[in-house]
Amino acid sequence: MKKAIIVGASSGIGRQLAIVLAKNGYMVGITGRRDQLLLNLQTTNPDKFVVSVFDATDIADIPQHLESLVKELDGLDLLIVSSGTGKINPTLDASIEQQTNDLNVSGFTAVADWAFNFFQAQGYGHLAAITSIAGLRGSRQAPAYFATKAYQLNYLEGLRQKATSLKLPITVTDIRPGFVDTAMAAGENLFWMATVEKASDQIFIAIKNKRDIVYITKRWRLVAAILKLLPKGLHKRM
Ligand SMILES: NC(=O)c1ccc[n+]([C@@H]2O[C@H](COP(=O)([O-])OP(=O)(O)OC[C@H]3O[C@@H](n4cnc5c(N)ncnc54)[C@H](OP(=O)(O)O)[C@@H]3O)[C@@H](O)[C@H]2O)c1
Repeated sequence: MKKAIIVGASSGIGRQLAIVLAKNGYMVGITGRRDQLLLNLQTTNPDKFVVSVFDATDIADIPQHLESLVKELDGLDLLIVSSGTGKINPTLDASIEQQTNDLNVSGFTAVADWAFNFFQAQGYGHLAAITSIAGLRGSRQAPAYFATKAYQLNYLEGLRQKATSLKLPITVTDIRPGFVDTAMAAGENLFWMATVEKASDQIFIAIKNKRDIVYITKRWRLVAAILKLLPKGLHKRM
């Protein structure tokens, strides 16, 4: 049986991915801060889920939590980072930007680095992270969210290059959703909103196919292409 950990599995995409992985024969370590939600999920399939409750911004404790979880699972093939936060922040509230940086940059880095080092020592493995199409350009509506997602895209690219230079079969998958119908999808002008089920099914296929970068749902590739080509002068006035 393959073993996976999902950091941020108490709700949204991470929770649904845990269900999909369990259906596909994985044993899954599910983490987050909201213990009751994790325990509820575990009750649905007790043989397939192992719960670990921790805050991914407590970066000093991350290695210990993940190591214990791997012991309980008896191995690790795949780690998915689905934890993330970000809010519309028109007043540039410093606490919102700080929380976003703490989780999406510091927590993300601590989890991704732990996973990469684990897979390097093991000689193989798969790190996947739910980043966002938001990482492609800046945004006045939620500057820290978009900037931290840009950090994540680049960080994963660095780890992918590192895996190649080490000549190790370590896959690094960057999953870039558009809008998915979860608590995170707030704001105006939302379009092409995918159900969490459809998004998670497509994410699972991308992971199975060991993709480097994938847009979820597939049609968001089009938006990505437009965003990349959008002239700076036009983007500035949006
Ligand atoms: N929904 C969208 O439209 C969309 C689009 C693009 C990208 N994304 C990305 O997809 C990822 C998952 O988001 P979602 O849409 O599924 O939203 P969600 O339902 O709010 O899920 C967020 C997950 O992150 C966990 N989390 C938040 N703060 C944490 C912390 N300090 N420590 C540990 N875990 C923490 C939450 O668990 P606890 O609260 O229990 O800790 C929850 O499991 C995020 O990275 C988000 O940026 C979402």
